[in-house]
Amino acid sequence: MGKYIVKNGQKIEGTLDIRGAKNSILPIIAGSILNENISIIHNVADISDVHIMIKILESVGCKIKYENGTLVVDSSNIVSCDINEEYVNKMRSSIIVMGAMIGRLDYMKIGHPGGCKIGKRPIDLHLEGLRKLGVEITESEGFIHCNKKELKGSTIVLDFPSVGATENIMLASVKANGITKIINPAKEPEIEDLANFLNKMGAKISGAGTNLIKIEGVKKLNKVEHTVIPDRIAIGTYMVASAMTGGKLEVKNVIHSHMDPVYKVFSCCGCDIKYLDNKVILLPTRKIKSMELVKTLPYPGFPTDMQSQIMALMSISDGETIFNETIFENRFMHVKELIKMGANIEIIDKNTCLVKGVEKLYGNNVVSSDLRGGASLVLAGLVAEGETEISNIYHIERGYEKFEYVLRSLGANIKKEL
Ligand code: UD1
Repeated sequence: MGKYIVKNGQKIEGTLDIRGAKNSILPIIAGSILNENISIIHNVADISDVHIMIKILESVGCKIKYENGTLVVDSSNIVSCDINEEYVNKMRSSIIVMGAMIGRLDYMKIGHPGGCKIGKRPIDLHLEGLRKLGVEITESEGFIHCNKKELKGSTIVLDFPSVGATENIMLASVKANGITKIINPAKEPEIEDLANFLNKMGAKISGAGTNLIKIEGVKKLNKVEHTVIPDRIAIGTYMVASAMTGGKLEVKNVIHSHMDPVYKVFSCCGCDIKYLDNKVILLPTRKIKSMELVKTLPYPGFPTDMQSQIMALMSISDGETIFNETIFENRFMHVKELIKMGANIEIIDKNTCLVKGVEKLYGNNVVSSDLRGGASLVLAGLVAEGETEISNIYHIERGYEKFEYVLRSLGANIKKEL
C-alpha cells in the first residue's frame, strides 16, 4: 500500500513546473472516444487515475501510447460497449466515459459507481441529462444500461452545477441532432478545457465557463491535438507547503484566473504573492493569519479540493477559522488525523468545523483516507515536530504526480516506503 515518512525542519522553496489538471485530463481522455480518429493530448500527469482511464479506453478497443507526458489515443476501432465494473470501483470518475460511449455507440453498459468515501455522490443529474437527450437508461444488478436510437438536442436545467454531469451531457450531445443547452452548468476551468478540446476536434460548443453552455450537434469529428491546462489544485497544494514552512516558491505555467479563488484565501491569511506573466511567486510567510470563514462553493467559489490543505495551514495560524464544506457531505476525514498531530479542531456539525491555530504540530502515524485529505497530512508533517508516517498513500498518488519526489526537490525531508 505504501507510506510516506516525513520529517520536519525544511523550507519548501524553489521553482515548480506543474503538469496538467487531473480533473481536465480524465474527461478529455474520455472525450477522445468520440472522434473515431487520433487524439494527441499533451501535459498529461503520470498519476494512477490517468492509468485507470487508459485501461478503460484500451478495454473498449482504443490503441494508446503514453510517453513523456503525451498521450496518443486512436479511437478508430471500438470493439466493446462494456465498461468493466472493476474500473468503476477503482475510480468513481470513470462514469465520465458514459457520455462519450453513448455519443459514439447505440448501447453501452457500465457498473454503478455507488457511493464513495467523501460523500454519497449520486449520479441522478448525469442520468437525467442523458435521458433528456434521448438515451433510454435502465439499471439492473448494479449495472447501468444505456440504449439510444437517436440523440436529440434538448434543454437541460441542472439543479446543481455538477462538474461530472455537465461533462457527461457535453460529451453525449456533441454528435446529437440539433442544439443542446445546459442551464446552470458547472463553470470550473476544467469544463472550458474539455469544451476547447472537443471544439478542436470539430464540436460546436459555446458558453463553457458561463451559466449557459450551447452545443450544436455535428456529424463528424476530426483528429485533434490539445495541451491540458495546469493543475490549479496541485499548484495550490504546493503553495500551502511553502506557506507553512516559510519558503519562497515560484510556480511556472500558471493560469492566474483559474487560481483566483485560491489566491484570495492565501492573501487573506497573510501570504505575500507576486504575479508575473504566467508565473506566481509566493514570498516567505512569517505568521499565518486565521480567517473568519473558509466556505467551499462551486467555481468561482473556493474549491472543495483545497479545503483540507487550507485546513492544515489554518491549524498553525494565529487564531480561529470556521470551515464550511458545502459540496460533499463527508469531507472532514482528515480532521481526526490532524487532531492526532496536535491540531485543535472541533467538528461542529457534519459540514462545519472550527480550527484554532496551535503553536506546534507533532509527528504521528496517520492514515490517508482520500486524495486531498491525504495531501493535507503530508503538509502537516512538513512542520510537525519529529517524524510523521502517512499510510494509504495510494489515495494521494491518484492525483499528484511524483508527490514525494516533487516535495523532496523543493527541500522536503520525505521518503516513500513500500
Ligand atoms: C468533480 C471533481 C472533484 C471535485 C468536484 C467538485 C473530477 C474527476 N472530480 O467531482 O475533484 O471535488 O468535481 O468540484 O472532476 N451530485 C448529485 N447528483 C449528481 C451529481 C452530483 O447530487 O448527479 C452532487 C454530489 O453528490 C456532490 C456535488 O453534487 O455533493 C458535487 O458533485 P460534482 O460537481 O458532480 O463532482 P464530481 O464531478 O463528482
